Amino acid sequence: FSNSGAEANEGAIKLARIRTGKTEFIACEDGFHGRTMASLACTHKPAIREPFLPLNPRCSFVPYGDAEAIRKAINKDTAGVIIEPIQGEAGVIIPQEGYLREVREICDEKDVLLILDEVETGIGRTGKWFAYQHEKIQPDIVSLAKGIASGFPMGAIIARDGLEFSKSEHGSTFAGGPVACAAAIATLDVVEEVLPSVAEKGARIKKALSAHDTRVAGLMVGVTIGDSCSKVQQACMEKGVLVNCAAHGNIRLVPPLVISPEEIDRGCEVIDAAIRSVC
Ligand SMILES: Cc1ncc(COP(=O)(O)O)c(C=O)c1O
Repeated sequence: FSNSGAEANEGAIKLARIRTGKTEFIACEDGFHGRTMASLACTHKPAIREPFLPLNPRCSFVPYGDAEAIRKAINKDTAGVIIEPIQGEAGVIIPQEGYLREVREICDEKDVLLILDEVETGIGRTGKWFAYQHEKIQPDIVSLAKGIASGFPMGAIIARDGLEFSKSEHGSTFAGGPVACAAAIATLDVVEEVLPSVAEKGARIKKALSAHDTRVAGLMVGVTIGDSCSKVQQACMEKGVLVNCAAHGNIRLVPPLVISPEEIDRGCEVIDAAIRSVC
């Protein structure tokens, strides 16, 4: 366990390094993995990464959605490939179907670990427990946080058999503390209950915002706005609806999975009106 998403990725990177004995990683352009040193090394955004150069581990970046670019970037020192199944901070960028499957095959062929950062996409966000389940693959390591304990600080690293930390290789005083675990257990019960409704709720948002350029994966929604994104954000806030401007002028909507149909309709009404008034 960990206390945040960045720490979960920190652990995933350590685990990949220690079990493979290799030191380098491949990540994607526009990808976000956190702000601690190793997770930052695999985070692409130059504005937050470059002030801290040189960073460790060494990470090379390839275009998101291009599996062949990953194949080309792998070298003898590559320990793992770390990617988001859907890029969140980048503006909810959903790759073509088959991308993760292809990356999985390349990692198998080249004998490098596939680390999926499901900090944003995990715990039911896309309508399945993990986003990778849509592609029917098995990653080697998965990092989780955000929704795992309904906002209580917690993260987790899951790894396949044979990829465990040995005693004293990793740990943290508060990680997996009883209050966080109680919050997570309670959350998982609720997610289990609402999971079957997530796809339907996402479809409701898609329909309500059909006049706009949306990308929807369960309750993870991107709306391309462009330069006026922050004005739309402001207009929504004035009507009591909080939305987030992610990268490249995209609004990112990640409502709680327990959101009701009525709340969806009300929220989308405000967002639709805000886009129409500003753009
Ligand atoms: C995909 C992804 N990974 C990692 C993180 C970092 O998580 P935390 O802010 O809990 O450190 C985030 C946070 O936005 C994220 O979206």
